[in-house]
Amino acid sequence: MIQADDYKLQTDKLNLYYGKFHALKDVTIAIRPRMITAIIGPSGCGKSTLLRCFNRMNDLITSVRVTGQILLDGIDVIHKSVKFTDLRKRVGMVFQRPNPFPLSVYDNVAYGPRIHGMARGSRLDQIVEDSLRSTALWSDLKDRLQDSALALSPEQQQRLCISRLVAVEPEVLLMDEPCSALDPIATAHIEELMRQLAQRYTIVIVTHNMQQAARVSQETGFMLLGDLVEFGATQGIFTAPADKRTEDYVTGRYG
Ligand SMILES: Nc1ncnc2c1ncn2[C@@H]1O[C@H](COP(=O)(O)OP(=O)(O)OP(=O)(O)O)[C@@H](O)[C@H]1O
Ligand SMILES: [Mg+2]
Repeated sequence: MIQADDYKLQTDKLNLYYGKFHALKDVTIAIRPRMITAIIGPSGCGKSTLLRCFNRMNDLITSVRVTGQILLDGIDVIHKSVKFTDLRKRVGMVFQRPNPFPLSVYDNVAYGPRIHGMARGSRLDQIVEDSLRSTALWSDLKDRLQDSALALSPEQQQRLCISRLVAVEPEVLLMDEPCSALDPIATAHIEELMRQLAQRYTIVIVTHNMQQAARVSQETGFMLLGDLVEFGATQGIFTAPADKRTEDYVTGRYG
């Protein structure tokens, strides 16, 4: 018998409409804690839309209507009693293009702890250091904390964006194509970082890159036209998919 707390994130019959367009269709998924779950599928199938449901970023779009449930630790996050700011702190998102704030390295990482009133002074310095260490940026940047984040390389910027999330002690990291603006070497570095972070955080990655999903994730969901066609152990999805549509996709027949 599977217990509710075996899962960090769940959706139950989740439907999402952009106006009249039905973008997610009865999506039921259960994501385990402290491992990497990949969402794959061709462009426009609803991967980013599903990811954005987990921290309710779609709420910013006025035409959006949602039915069904989205659960974090078994609690429905659509429910009005869950505060947006608390949810965003617990469930952070990394985007395709690194998006550091036009501030110093230090101020980027300190931003979240400051707005959440978590720390000041030397305690804040320690959080910044720990967060930069957790993404292996500290030794490179410890003497450049006051430099603009925009002066960093793309890989360092993406690491900094992850440090910025780590600084507020999240539980879930959502990553939407986090390597698609990076070269292959930087991509390998970020994948290695993801493996390390998965020891502490629940990670959900959306990727176009099937090899990347196969390399980094333990479970994979395949989406097509708003349906979650198949979800299960990554190795099974890639070597013995149950659904013909999954097989066609992972063998490169489309997408
Ligand atoms: N703000 C929006 N308003 C209207 N339609 C939208 C909006 N955002 C996404 N869509 C549509 O919803 C569908 C799913 O989009 P989504 O961005 O989730 O797909 P995706 O799988 O992430 O695609 P990609 O791989 O290209 O990033 C697409 O048909 C898209 O055009
Ligand atoms: Mg997308």
